[in-house]
Amino acid sequence: MDFKIEIAQLLANATNLEAGEVAGAIETPDPAMGDFAFPCFKLAKTMKKAPAAIADELAASLQLPAFLQSIQAAGPYLNFFVNRGLYAAEILSKIYKAGKEFGRSHIGGGGVVVIDYSSPNMAKRFHIGHLRSTVIGHALYNIFNFLGYKSFSINYLGDWGTQFGKIITAYEHWGNKADVEAGGIEELERLYVKFHKEVENKPELDDQARAWFLKMEQGDEYALDLWRWFKEISMADHSKIYKMLDIDFDSFNGESFYNDKMTPIVDELKSKGVAVEDKGAWIVDLEAHKMPNCLVLRSDGATIYATRDITSVLHRKDEYKFVKALYVTSKEQILHFAQCFKVVELMGHEWASEQLIHVPFGYLTLPEGKMSSRMGNALLMKDVLEESVERIRQTIEEKNPNLADKETVAQQVGIGAIIFNDLYNNRIKDVEFSWERALSFEGETGPYVQYTHARCCSVLAKATLDFADADLTKLTTDEELELIKTLNNFPERAKEAAERYEPFIIARFAMSVAQAFNKFYHDNPILKADEQTQKARLYLTHCTKEIIATALGILGIKAPQEM
Ligand code: ARG
Repeated sequence: MDFKIEIAQLLANATNLEAGEVAGAIETPDPAMGDFAFPCFKLAKTMKKAPAAIADELAASLQLPAFLQSIQAAGPYLNFFVNRGLYAAEILSKIYKAGKEFGRSHIGGGGVVVIDYSSPNMAKRFHIGHLRSTVIGHALYNIFNFLGYKSFSINYLGDWGTQFGKIITAYEHWGNKADVEAGGIEELERLYVKFHKEVENKPELDDQARAWFLKMEQGDEYALDLWRWFKEISMADHSKIYKMLDIDFDSFNGESFYNDKMTPIVDELKSKGVAVEDKGAWIVDLEAHKMPNCLVLRSDGATIYATRDITSVLHRKDEYKFVKALYVTSKEQILHFAQCFKVVELMGHEWASEQLIHVPFGYLTLPEGKMSSRMGNALLMKDVLEESVERIRQTIEEKNPNLADKETVAQQVGIGAIIFNDLYNNRIKDVEFSWERALSFEGETGPYVQYTHARCCSVLAKATLDFADADLTKLTTDEELELIKTLNNFPERAKEAAERYEPFIIARFAMSVAQAFNKFYHDNPILKADEQTQKARLYLTHCTKEIIATALGILGIKAPQEM
């Protein structure tokens, strides 16, 4: 039984509105005002009365069904209070039955959603700027799977482009095998930074870099061997981060994968007249679409980032037959993707405007300002994750030194805190990082949610009663009702998160459950209650635990049993 639908039916029978229309208008009021509210404005016209008068009239005339406790008018609103016991029994038994599957749906119908995320650049250490892409993309991957789509993740490594000509140039001038072997990706980055410093006084270095990149493009084995070696070193370094985050990818086809796939696309752009020649280069004129031109082929015949992304879209469509393709990057690339997607559309692919989605996000900033790896003073992802784990390790040492398997918990909470902090806001918002805000066990943080889960586990572990046959109509306090209502929002929230490509909706949901549970826990004794009440509260605790674990899992965060 669905309370909202039942209320809508009740109103539809008493008025000239359709039940569907009523259901759409029903709101969730402040708990003190009721559990469901219907604004009577819609009826004012046909009933030729003020909304408040209509609300009064309906409150007096409607027959109270068993599933409601009362119907009250408050100004223009008609407020409905549910029969709490019945509500608890209805909702919780549904949640209990679904278990870890509660909230899951099949609306995706198995359609493939390709998600391009993380996508760091080779020969640069994994920068914290990529953290956001990684955790947002990974959460979206899980959200779409949860809703019955088939997610497919692509890590589009930045492994092609003129910058590799620069690194080879730098290596030839100032690097050597032993140093690269010893220093790994940090040495490669040092070389890259050095190139940028030196080129200021020696512009001829730029010509050398261009020449090296040209050699790569022409298949020169010496250049390509270096490139392959640098790539291997980079991947090995990046995979340490993925291991810490426990994230894997379905494909690692990076930029270089498209090298031999662009010519036919560029030819098609030319032959369809989508691209036109402009001083030897080829561009797509996007003025009609209020965007700058999109360069697809430089006058020296080289392709660019956009050429590869136009190709990536078409290749992925062919290969995976996606219903949606997502690209998760910082907001700096909004124009880039708008241009690429428009070019694909202009090639005659109508699906482009609906199925291609750029998922931009804001910057993660330290108080000092935007983090940048260009000049080498970056805050590094690995350092952040390691420091987070270390800080949690210390907290555990202070607060719970006898905890079993401390190291695993420190990893799960330390990493989880960083992920949660990153996913807690609307993704386009810039986030200012603060250790206090990310790691506190009391604020709106990952550790707080994880701690609530552990608290549920600990209550359940202490219980001696079997609660599977609990009488759920015992659950009638304000806090119980509020917690049950909150849990019941999960399916809606999951859908909304997918529709808006916003993992923060799941993070906020998890937080609302944790807060509602702690309020319940604080005011409603569980293990000290009489047997019947205890069983019902354990049942509620169990459902809460399952849902928190599922929500955290979607965000890519572990839910330790103890902490
Ligand atoms: N490597 C790029 C960067 O670090 C992100 C790539 C995003 N994906 C894409 N298909 N363009 O900014």
